[in-house]
Amino acid sequence: MKKRLLVTGGAGFLGNHLLRRAKQFVAAGTLHLTPSISLPGVTFHVCDLQNPEEVRILLDRIQPDIIIHTACSDQGKGIEAIVPAAGLLAMQTAERDIRLIHLSTDQVFDGDTAPYKEESPTNPINAYGKAKVQAEELMRSLHPQATIVRTSLLYDLRTPDRQATRLIESAKTGELFRLFVDELRCPIWVENLAEVLLEVATKDVPGILHIAGPESQNRWDFGMGLLHHFGITPTPNIQKGTIEESGLVRPKNLTMDSSRAKQLLQTPLLSLSEARKKVQNLKI
Ligand SMILES: NC(=O)c1ccc[n+]([C@@H]2O[C@H](COP(=O)([O-])OP(=O)(O)OC[C@H]3O[C@@H](n4cnc5c(N)ncnc54)[C@H](OP(=O)(O)O)[C@@H]3O)[C@@H](O)[C@H]2O)c1
Repeated sequence: MKKRLLVTGGAGFLGNHLLRRAKQFVAAGTLHLTPSISLPGVTFHVCDLQNPEEVRILLDRIQPDIIIHTACSDQGKGIEAIVPAAGLLAMQTAERDIRLIHLSTDQVFDGDTAPYKEESPTNPINAYGKAKVQAEELMRSLHPQATIVRTSLLYDLRTPDRQATRLIESAKTGELFRLFVDELRCPIWVENLAEVLLEVATKDVPGILHIAGPESQNRWDFGMGLLHHFGITPTPNIQKGTIEESGLVRPKNLTMDSSRAKQLLQTPLLSLSEARKKVQNLKI
């Protein structure tokens, strides 16, 4: 019999990709401010994950075996919900013995002592990272069997995602767009991460797991790679910059060590060039 999977943030970037691929499960997703959405074979349920009663009703209705909690990112008012939603889900899923996979971020680190392993000390330097650290602590204390997946920058290769869209727009409008050469991340293709998470959902992996792309890239090289993929010629207004010059407070080097995930899982973690090859082969 198929297991029941609930994905929070069903209209979100990662959540939606998960639900599109979750054919081996009876799948459901949550919506918050998104009024409605449809995907074949998936049911959607409106729920504010900060509201204990709404979460209780949701779990009573769906009776999930597994939850992948993608909701509450750094977008909009999502940051405010990160800690309360994590606490409620951790408590209510532990009580019901539901397997929980919680999405966290590389931004729990300060960017000064990369590469980062699961046991590296956290030291967030922005509000988002601080909230995600608190959420992780709640997960660990309230639901020790939960898997906490820390990932890096997500990108799409079929249609430009939020960040790629801004970059492509700037190539059209001529507006100055700086890509930092001193900010390093391990970007991961959203479809690759979705596939890996669905494998994690079938396994018992308590604790923290780093799941990021295998290549550490600076934002300039990564941005150029995406423009090339979408067939856009870089324009002179797209320039190299540094975090230092910008005056922004951002973690510099968030290179992630995902070797634990590589040992435990069969789905490979793809670099940008490997992901591009896969998309191109799928299109043929
Ligand atoms: N995107 C990245 O590059 C990246 C990198 C590292 C880690 N992550 C983590 O990965 C996860 C997924 O990220 P994403 O980019 O896919 O997120 P996203 O597209 O911003 O989606 C987040 C979803 O959270 C839902 N949400 C916000 N507040 C809510 C609340 N109070 N109750 C219920 N749902 C609520 C929203 O639902 P509605 O749209 O229906 O309002 C939204 O669809 C997040 O946990 C994020 O922190 C993302």
